[in-house]
Amino acid sequence: MNKLSHIAIIMDGNGRWAQAKGKTRATGHKKGASIVQDITKQAIKENIKYITYYAFSTENWNRPKKEVDSLMNLFEKYLDKEGSFYIKNNVRFNVIGDISKLSIKLQDKISSIMQKTKANTNLVQTLAVNYGSKDEIIRAVNKANKEHKIINEEIIANYLDTHNLPDVDLLIRTGGYKRISNYLLWQIAYAELSFTKTLWPDFSTSEFKKIIKKFKKIKRNFGTLK
Ligand code: FPP
Repeated sequence: MNKLSHIAIIMDGNGRWAQAKGKTRATGHKKGASIVQDITKQAIKENIKYITYYAFSTENWNRPKKEVDSLMNLFEKYLDKEGSFYIKNNVRFNVIGDISKLSIKLQDKISSIMQKTKANTNLVQTLAVNYGSKDEIIRAVNKANKEHKIINEEIIANYLDTHNLPDVDLLIRTGGYKRISNYLLWQIAYAELSFTKTLWPDFSTSEFKKIIKKFKKIKRNFGTLK
């Protein structure tokens, strides 16, 4: 059976979910945020050690200001509400992306929860916020360049935001599109990709369980013959 250590998720479809119900996009994001911890709890049950959610991309700043503001507001509320979740469930909270572009208030909340949960061992839950894979790789290469004459794979990996996470085993994208959207391009080199038409707010633990079950049956070769 396949080892499944790290699952990455692109939570797409909040806007369409809301539109179909005649609600605002912000309502869709709110509903989307409300199911994150159900999926995280299921991941713990499945003995998964790392789960990484794409919450806000470097490209998402180009959305209307109203939507960007509502997402930033939602992150703050989420962190206020979920702080206790991480403690209660022994989950380590982690963030990837360039958080220096976020408000100081949000940066402080992120650092505080990361600090409080750094010794937690059940699972590492990472939120990608102001994250773009190309941006991450450029930042890593620039840092590596300052200290190394010759750059190899291991050096780059050590400077990525994900330096303390293993490569992704399974990437799930909800919302019907089959694309990667500048997410973890380096880290998904050998990942299995799973696309579902389900819009993120409707994604359920039972669908999540089914995807995991299917993944475990797949033969992964990592470029070799086995
Ligand atoms: C894509 O849906 C989703 C986003 C750009 C944001 C994802 C954010 C959340 C699920 C809520 C916040 C999460 C946390 C953990 C606080 P879309 O708006 O592109 O949907 P559409 O394709 O239907 O328009």
